[in-house]
Amino acid sequence: MTNKMDFLKGMIQELKDKNLFTELPVLGTEQKNRVVLNGKEVIIMCTNNYLGFANHSRLREAAKKAIDTWGFGAGAVRQIAGTMEIHVQLEEMLAEYKHTEAALVFVAGIAANRGTIQAIMGEEDAIISDELNHGSIIDGVRLTKSKRFVYPHLDMEGLKKVLVEAKEARRRLVVTDGVFSMDGEIAPLDRIVELAEEYDAMVMVDDAHGDGVLGKDGRGIIDHFGLEGRVDIDMGTLSKAFGSLGGYIAGRKDLRDYLINTARSFIFTTAHPPSVAAATMESIRMIQDEPEHLQRLWRNTRYFKKAMTDLGFDIGHSQTPITPVMARQSKEAVELSRQLFEEGLFAKPIVFPLVARDKSRVRINVTAQHTQEDLDEAIAIFEIAGKRMNLI
Ligand SMILES: Cc1ncc(COP(=O)(O)O)c(C=O)c1O
Repeated sequence: MTNKMDFLKGMIQELKDKNLFTELPVLGTEQKNRVVLNGKEVIIMCTNNYLGFANHSRLREAAKKAIDTWGFGAGAVRQIAGTMEIHVQLEEMLAEYKHTEAALVFVAGIAANRGTIQAIMGEEDAIISDELNHGSIIDGVRLTKSKRFVYPHLDMEGLKKVLVEAKEARRRLVVTDGVFSMDGEIAPLDRIVELAEEYDAMVMVDDAHGDGVLGKDGRGIIDHFGLEGRVDIDMGTLSKAFGSLGGYIAGRKDLRDYLINTARSFIFTTAHPPSVAAATMESIRMIQDEPEHLQRLWRNTRYFKKAMTDLGFDIGHSQTPITPVMARQSKEAVELSRQLFEEGLFAKPIVFPLVARDKSRVRINVTAQHTQEDLDEAIAIFEIAGKRMNLI
């Protein structure tokens, strides 16, 4: 008997034929340096747990204590009865940490991007976006009726050109990833801010991969470039280096007040469990009072990148722990990932539509949790697989 949903079978087959189909890898352990996957212990090099906070005892304890005090669920959306004191304390702490007037937490980074862009940009406005911005920024742009301008990746002449084209719009917003999640490059935010100031545009930066990684005490890209007070909207996620869950916007108090009232992805969803807020606060404390995690992250990053370059791998132009190991077409990236797994290393292939078809890669995220032994073993595994596949 046919079923109305049978068309999905054909669509799945199409994805499989193009090597674009993926199954969910299911971990049998916590997010440590080595995990059990499909019954096999492997070094994991594709998490965003940059500092090792996701499974740190301080976050576990903070969450447990909050459950005892506040219970588990938040019970309601933020605007109705879901805002507890602990949610507000987290927002105050984030604002202080980010040196802004205020902050607002969303359920996820994707919700922060969607909700913020949708709320503040109207039909008469123009949104100016780097061509490789994250999908959640693109979603936010699509939720508006604003005019859209896309400039070539990191191209400041291209940005200038579209700023001129967008001159007639009521308001202009330049939005960029801080650290590009697939390539690990740092956006030239200093130049972007200068140009935006020259052409009277607002600037929004998505610092999902810069938070906890760049700047003093991991304050992110704005601190990295010394641009405090000159970036209008500092967006980030709490789910990567902070080891928790949620997205946030830091900026003026007016921005917070307006988003509370108009950002649909903030309004129409239940607040975080209070234990999430408590654990996140602990991670903000920890990043400031235990600098060794950040130091180890960068030491590991430098070590791994140098070894991979010395072996002859093409690892792009990353300036951060994100390390793309280029493998040409999707098929080759999938095969590289498979071979790495066979040898004891887990890193997912990244293929179209996440990146261009001929820029397929295995993306490595070095973390502070990797030991010297992990890194040396990972490098040796790459050497074996890279030689077999003629990548080096
Ligand atoms: C650049 C960027 N922005 C936003 C997000 C979304 O963050 P979240 O996972 O908290 O929804 C991610 C991660 O997935 C990201 O890499």
